[in-house]
Amino acid sequence: MSGKELKILTNRFDKIDPASIDDYINTGGYKALKKALEMPREEIIKQVKASNLRGRGGAAFPTGIKLESVYKEREAQKYLVCNADEGEPGNFKDRFLIENDPHQVIEGMIICAFAVGSSKGYIYVRGEYDKPISLLKTAIEQAKAKNFLGGGILGTSFNFELEVRTGAGAYVCGEEFALIESIEGKSGKPRFKPPFPTMVGVFNKPTLLNNVETYSNIPYIINEGGEKFAAIGTPSSSGTRLISLSGNVNNKGLFEVPFGVSIREIIDLLGKGIPNGRKIKMVQLAGASGPIIPENMLDLRIDYKEMADNNLSLGSGAIIVIDDRFDVLDIVYRIAKFFEHESCGKCTPCRNGNKQLVKIIKKFVTKTATEKDLSRLDILINVMTQASLCGLGQAAPTAIATTMKYFNEDYLGGICENEKAVAIGG
Ligand SMILES: Cc1cc2nc3c(=O)[nH]c(=O)nc-3n(C[C@H](O)[C@H](O)[C@H](O)COP(=O)(O)O)c2cc1C
Ligand code: SF4
Repeated sequence: MSGKELKILTNRFDKIDPASIDDYINTGGYKALKKALEMPREEIIKQVKASNLRGRGGAAFPTGIKLESVYKEREAQKYLVCNADEGEPGNFKDRFLIENDPHQVIEGMIICAFAVGSSKGYIYVRGEYDKPISLLKTAIEQAKAKNFLGGGILGTSFNFELEVRTGAGAYVCGEEFALIESIEGKSGKPRFKPPFPTMVGVFNKPTLLNNVETYSNIPYIINEGGEKFAAIGTPSSSGTRLISLSGNVNNKGLFEVPFGVSIREIIDLLGKGIPNGRKIKMVQLAGASGPIIPENMLDLRIDYKEMADNNLSLGSGAIIVIDDRFDVLDIVYRIAKFFEHESCGKCTPCRNGNKQLVKIIKKFVTKTATEKDLSRLDILINVMTQASLCGLGQAAPTAIATTMKYFNEDYLGGICENEKAVAIGG
């Protein structure tokens, strides 16, 4: 283990048999649930708020505030949902969490269900994740047999049932409302917000919806206290971050680091550098929907504030390293094709905007673009980010916008010769 790693969520990896609930219990598992059941619900929420935990699914919303919102809703039926769709290319942390420690996320969910007053939960898992689906189903049966799930949990009056639902492969179904529609048996399409799922979620009832990594942090927070969690990382970003590191690095894989570590440290020390003596050309953060930055920005730290100050986001934690053999325009063309395919078609800016992006970027790739295409891209990016109904359309042009900013010369290289003189002011 490198000095840069801090194993809280991944502490049991390789130490337990993930299919054994006894292994989980013997390493401190379900201790937090027992403790939580003896705490007032408000105190659980207070601890999560004190931890400053923010959602790890991409939007980084404060988890304690979500819990409090659902808790305050006065409906008899409330739902809990775990988002394990993980459709963003380059991300594999949720799969690793479930494959190595399925009870950790389940324990986190049960504690949250108790805190907000929910009796029914769903884990929505990406359909291709055969092993995680099977491990989760086994873990749920084991937890039921030990009365951690079901009726009258551990002698209390608290009841909670948990069910696994699988997605059918649409990227948009990771978006919270599309996922909720899918759970309800409809075609997965986002809804207008507000109201948010905390008020009107599954079957129009208040719903707490969080990512796998977010729920997995809850047992630690309850066992150790919110303040101890808040002390890990940086003032603006508490706890650890799971990094899915891939692309042109020697040591690809999942790494858990405290907030505050730089992207360069992750690539050099954990990823062990770039193979075959090549140089880094660019790094994509977050996944296909994330920004692409040049090598000279790699000293940026994994920190919500530092990222936001630079108009960047790490999304759900992917770092994709791309070396100097690759062409910027070719990469953004592939990304644009991906979003054209994944757009659900519900709103015009995204449905038509992604088609237009593909057409225009193709002109740059084939060096047939004109100067006007640069301003067309600017306008399209602006309209899509401002007017798309959900995060898919809003984030789809991010790779194009950031490469236009940091790799402008590559776009100028895509303008046909007679136009070039005008574009560069010659
Ligand atoms: C197109 C799209 C795809 C998303 N995919 C995922 C996903 O696979 N997993 C996830 O946890 N969140 C995903 N999100 C974010 C969710 O909408 C939501 O914010 C998140 O699950 C909330 O959990 P958190 O507060 O724990 O982060 C996606 C959002 C959008 C717009
Ligand atoms: S932004 Fe795209 S994915 Fe989202 S609702 Fe509109 S068309 Fe569908």
